[in-house]
Amino acid sequence: MTQSKAAKKIPHISEFPLVGSLPAFMKERLQLFERIAQKSDVCSFRIGPVRMVMLNRPEYIQYVLVDHASDFDKGQIMHKAMGGNNGLFSSEGDFHHQQRKLLSPPFQPRHISSYADTIGHYGEQIQQPWHNDERIDLNQQMISLTMSIIGKILFDTDVFSETDELGAAMAIGFEHTVQVLTSLYSPPLNWPTPHNNRTRKAVQQVESRIQQMIDERRSSTIERNDFLSILLQTRGDNGEKMSDRQVMDECITLFGAGHETTEAALAWA
Ligand code: HEM
Repeated sequence: MTQSKAAKKIPHISEFPLVGSLPAFMKERLQLFERIAQKSDVCSFRIGPVRMVMLNRPEYIQYVLVDHASDFDKGQIMHKAMGGNNGLFSSEGDFHHQQRKLLSPPFQPRHISSYADTIGHYGEQIQQPWHNDERIDLNQQMISLTMSIIGKILFDTDVFSETDELGAAMAIGFEHTVQVLTSLYSPPLNWPTPHNNRTRKAVQQVESRIQQMIDERRSSTIERNDFLSILLQTRGDNGEKMSDRQVMDECITLFGAGHETTEAALAWA
């Protein structure tokens, strides 16, 4: 490659030897992202040995996530953090494309509008015990709220919180994903550390509970409107249906993608 055609060097923020920007990433992430954005619209930084690139213009994000999405994969860290789950968040290429199509029915406007009642109901219910001048842990309250909503919409279960067995196990699995995404090093999930043992136990609980719900729906003639039931009925262009394993992976993904994001947005708001 001639010098004139050589790729431009991406500006880099260099913080500490070995760990790079990990301390700031753990303790003052917003300030770190502001520092990076001020340096350049495309800027790299290191989290330990891993070099990350941050894009800070909507058109660059559009370029990567939409216009040239097929040139990028989701990266090793994402696959490791998802621990083998092959739902929409981690699946790649043609399979991801096909799954997007198969998962579109529950996202149609007629279904979305039917979720509004559920959202309103739980929103109303959570604030009932609040009193004027009382201090509440808003983050905790919003976790309960969004977990209840996603639990009802995905599985039609009424009591769904971190105190519920399935909710607690889901939260442990999700904690693992965040831990892998934000730490310098995390041992493979099959190593018998206390954290891994706890995570594997939680994953087993989640999988056996969802499998039980799948079996119940398959053997019942009652028509239900929850995501799980819709996904079990969905057929692709050639009449193909999703395997139980894939339905499970998609439900776990939707639970993680749908409750933590909305919880953070509500708590911040
Ligand atoms: C404030 C709320 C939310 C925010 C900020 C948010 C943010 C995001 C972001 C940044 C992505 C990655 C986009 C990409 O890689 O192209 C994503 C993907 C995704 N989100 Fe959300 N999200 C929110 C709510 C939800 C909810 C409520 C659900 C489901 C119930 C959901 C399900 C998903 C799924 C399935 C994906 C993967 C899509 C794919 O790769 O095809 N999200 N979200």
